[in-house]
Amino acid sequence: MKLSKKLEKALNDQIKKEYEASYVYNGMRIYLDDANLKGASSWMLKQTQEELEHAEAFVQFVKSLDGQVKLEDIKAQKTEYAGLLEVLEAAYEHEQMITKSIQDLLELAISEKNYAAENFLRKFVDEQVEEEDNFRDLIELVKFVGKNKAGLLKVDGGLGQR
Ligand code: FEO
Repeated sequence: MKLSKKLEKALNDQIKKEYEASYVYNGMRIYLDDANLKGASSWMLKQTQEELEHAEAFVQFVKSLDGQVKLEDIKAQKTEYAGLLEVLEAAYEHEQMITKSIQDLLELAISEKNYAAENFLRKFVDEQVEEEDNFRDLIELVKFVGKNKAGLLKVDGGLGQR
C-alpha cells in the first residue's frame, strides 16, 4: 500500500501540528512554572511529551508506507497567560483544532480507500475524545475552585500526580 502525494502532504501537515502542539504546551508549562503552579507545570510537561510521541507515531507511519517525511517550520509560541483557567481553555481550543484536523485526514484516507491510514487515524480519533474530555474536566474543576487559593493549591497538587 502506498501513500498518494495528497495524503502524504496531509500527514506531513499533521506531523507539523503535533510538534506545534508540543511547542504550545511547552509555552504553557513555562508560564505555569513561573506562576509557581509546579504540579500543573509538571502535568503540562507530560502533555508536551505526549505530543512528541504523537508526532513520532505519524513520522513512523509515513515512513512505513514508504512516504517522504517533511519537517515544516513551526511558529513562535507565547509563554504568558492570565492564569490556569486561561491556559486550560486555550489548550482545549487547541485540541478541538487538532480533532478537526484528524477528522479531515480520516475523511481523506477513506475517500482514497487507504485502509492502513484509516486504521491508523481511527486510533487518533479515540485519542482526541480522551484529550478533549481531560481538558473539559480540568476546566470545570478550576472553575469550581474559582478564587479559592487553598482549592487551587489542592488542584495543583493533584495535577502533579500525573
Ligand atoms: Fe496530539 Fe493533543 O493531540
